[in-house]
Amino acid sequence: MKEYLTSYHHFLHGADYNPEQWIRYPGMLDEDIRFMKDAHCNVMSVGIFSWFILEPEEGKYDFAFMDQVVDKLSEHGIKIILATPSGARPRWLAERYPEVLRVSRDCRREKYGFRQNHCYTSPIYREKVANIDRRIAKRYQGNQNIILWHISNEYGGECHCGLCQQAFRTWLRDKYGNDLDRLNDAWWTGFWSHIVTDWQQIHSPTSIGEPDYVLPGLFMDWKEFITWQTTSFMREEIAAVKAVTPDIPVTTNFMGPYQHLDYHFMKRYVDVISWDSYPSWHSERGDIVEAYSIAFAHDLHRCFHHRPFLLMESTPSNTNWFDICKLKRPGMHKLSSIQAIAHGSDSVQYFQWRKGRGGLEKFHGAVIDHRGEAKGRVFQDVREVGLLLESIDEIAGSRTSAEVAVVYDYRNRWVLENASGFQNRDKKYKRTCINHYKEFWKRGMNVDVIGLDDDLERYGIVVFPMLYSVSKENIRRIEEYVAGGGTAIATYITGYVNEMDLCYLGGFPGGELKEVFGLAAEEIDTLYETDRNTVRFQNRVYGAVDYCELIVPTTAEAIAFYEDDFYAEKGAVFKNEYKRGTAYYIGFRDSGEFLAAFYDTVIRRSALKYYDLPYGVALHTRETKGREYFFLENYNKFDAVVKIPENIRNLETGKEMYDSIVVKGYDAVIGVRSVAGG
Ligand code: GAL
Repeated sequence: MKEYLTSYHHFLHGADYNPEQWIRYPGMLDEDIRFMKDAHCNVMSVGIFSWFILEPEEGKYDFAFMDQVVDKLSEHGIKIILATPSGARPRWLAERYPEVLRVSRDCRREKYGFRQNHCYTSPIYREKVANIDRRIAKRYQGNQNIILWHISNEYGGECHCGLCQQAFRTWLRDKYGNDLDRLNDAWWTGFWSHIVTDWQQIHSPTSIGEPDYVLPGLFMDWKEFITWQTTSFMREEIAAVKAVTPDIPVTTNFMGPYQHLDYHFMKRYVDVISWDSYPSWHSERGDIVEAYSIAFAHDLHRCFHHRPFLLMESTPSNTNWFDICKLKRPGMHKLSSIQAIAHGSDSVQYFQWRKGRGGLEKFHGAVIDHRGEAKGRVFQDVREVGLLLESIDEIAGSRTSAEVAVVYDYRNRWVLENASGFQNRDKKYKRTCINHYKEFWKRGMNVDVIGLDDDLERYGIVVFPMLYSVSKENIRRIEEYVAGGGTAIATYITGYVNEMDLCYLGGFPGGELKEVFGLAAEEIDTLYETDRNTVRFQNRVYGAVDYCELIVPTTAEAIAFYEDDFYAEKGAVFKNEYKRGTAYYIGFRDSGEFLAAFYDTVIRRSALKYYDLPYGVALHTRETKGREYFFLENYNKFDAVVKIPENIRNLETGKEMYDSIVVKGYDAVIGVRSVAGG
């Protein structure tokens, strides 16, 4: 079955288009459209930062310029993703209504400037935004060329103004049923005499008051409130446009594993998932590490709705905001674009169409540079991707199925990173999730990256890296999953606290997890950067860094052992047969090689399909009725020979490929084969 995201049943190829910056350059629009056609672009995101032009003064509207843009794009069959302009407000709005400006962590009201920094609570901002959104929707209602709403731009950040404090208190009253005792228990306010005796005493964590880490319960509620309040703002924008154009789906551009909002909550309110991806190819950490890190983020977005997503922004060449703004090497643009498609994207879109002449982003990569011609390496790269997407269009809308999941949970990240203890500088939650993910990635296995509330039963293996915080309800769900025959893999620092950072009493991991894993983690040794321990597993020795947990098994069998220090010979990794399933517990952080050996054993023993691929080559599949699409991606500079048992037909050349396939350096091969059913 195919699942299309919009009424346009094709891959999207296009860019953020900001012609309002060029209003004094006549002829630009026509030239752009010619170039867009030449680049095989079929969509443009417009209006993202256009508020000043649409409402130059309060209550005075001028759609003439936007009409031209919308009409011309439509005339030429270029689809439109129409934005609500709330990401950047015009000056008059801030001057007239200072409450729309944010109050920062030091409790000072900001001045006008920058973007994406308004107060999400301000009733005036909400009203003004809903008004302009509604007017835009009415103006372009009925235009069949508009296929999607782009709601605002990269929501983020927080505001500490009086309105937000009041809204936070109301939210807390609701959460705790107006019962301060419940709040005091959840925040453990007996600590340092911090008991709350009146709702009005509550204030968000700031740099001049309560820091984040003293009352982690306050911090967690504040984080959750920010997501909730941002989502409520977004929902008002969605309601404004849906009231006029109920049939046009909505998206907002997410930012990957961005740690400030819980996208697992926000995802429920948009029709289409999209995100902005900016890999740092050719950096010191190497392209292969970059490739599986970005792969992880693509899979995270695909799993928000478990269906295709859109790559809303990427750069056709370099960014202007990395420390080092390096160019993509030949081949990398196409490979990076195919990577997104391989992981379930139905688009390749760029920031931006044309480089601005001035302003912050004038040196950010764009399809058209300051020369102003449809020429040059970057333009040709973009064109090549446009042609490629047309030639593989049958893949659009196809689905991904995975038998393995890695849990990346935003709330767990907040609570873990905020906890005082272990390694305070960087607990490396995200990196740990990615390191586990990589073991499946390099074996050509599709992986779902899911939140803790997602359904677990559909997977053969679920990995829970550093699942420090887990609610009782989720403990029960993990227990049920393993009891029912699943394989769970957990690591050090699992199940220490509940969702409010209150420690589980009776030993770690909390509740039934002790039985599921058949052990108790008694202590955890945190190592200095120069410290090393070693762990023996299947007669080989592996490095241990950062964390070594001291574990006492009950029913679990130790399968790897510490070699050094006062806990030498004690178990470091355990396996427990629990009811119909199996649970593994890895008690230490690996210095780089253990996970490969461990997953080799686990995957070989499972019935899951995997491939022996050269290092740096990835294989992903998408499927639809009766067809399976293969993406072989080579992130090495040099060619790789890949042996896969399936006979597949190269979708670009039409040639059949048997047994050995050569994938050139920084290139990809896309194939298809027929499968039964689907
Ligand atoms: C994105 C943003 C764009 C542009 C881009 C530059 O985060 O949405 O408007 O600023 O970064 O890389």
